Amino acid sequence: MSSFRSHVYVSVFLLSTLIPFSQQVLNEHNQKLEWIVGKWRSEFSGKIFWPTVPTMTFGEELVINEAPIAKSANVQFLNFSARAWSHSTKDHFHDEWGFLTVDPAGNATLMTTGNNGFTTYETGTVSPNKLVLTLKDIGRISFSRDLPVEDLRRTFIRHDDRYMEQVIEMRTATHPKVGYLEHTRVVYTKLK
Ligand SMILES: *[C@@H]1O[C@H](CO)[C@@H](O)[C@H](O)[C@H]1NC(C)=O
Ligand SMILES: *[C@@H]1O[C@H](CO)[C@@H](O)[C@H](O)[C@H]1NC(C)=O
Repeated sequence: MSSFRSHVYVSVFLLSTLIPFSQQVLNEHNQKLEWIVGKWRSEFSGKIFWPTVPTMTFGEELVINEAPIAKSANVQFLNFSARAWSHSTKDHFHDEWGFLTVDPAGNATLMTTGNNGFTTYETGTVSPNKLVLTLKDIGRISFSRDLPVEDLRRTFIRHDDRYMEQVIEMRTATHPKVGYLEHTRVVYTKLK
């Protein structure tokens, strides 16, 4: 009886330690993005700057997780969701959904679709505390209120175990003439 019991305890112990791992096994390429996985939130540190709009403060919650693998594609993606709101009015800003992966050459790809009417295909490089993505292709609904985006650079910087920053720089049909202009900057705290 007592040996049966200890056997049960050992199995329960093994299961409870193994299950979290089996849900969070990134392949060797995606392991480079392990630092970005998690739930990140900024209550009101976000800032929007743009020549044609007043500077605004926003909050955002970013969730990045290992996503189930589609058998047909057999590519492991992280899924990505970002929801932003105005700090002053609490108006909803935008939602963005997407998938993120690192290829065998070590380059990252992020695909997003947002209710601002844009879809993006971004590629770039990942290092231990930094992910820099630039726009490779973009789709935009014809009736969007926003100007066409001609280029975009998105940078995630992990400051430490608790803080991460995202900076989006872009170029639209009207601003700037060349290169990028900073559009948003937000510092997130990692949630448990
Ligand atoms: C990401 O995948 C996880 C695991 O399947 C799932 O629980 C979560 O809802 C997904 N998140 C998004 C934003 O699709
Ligand atoms: C990976 O990114 C680097 C730097 O942008 C680029 O030179 C290289 O061609 C890319 N490799 C692949 C396989 O896309």
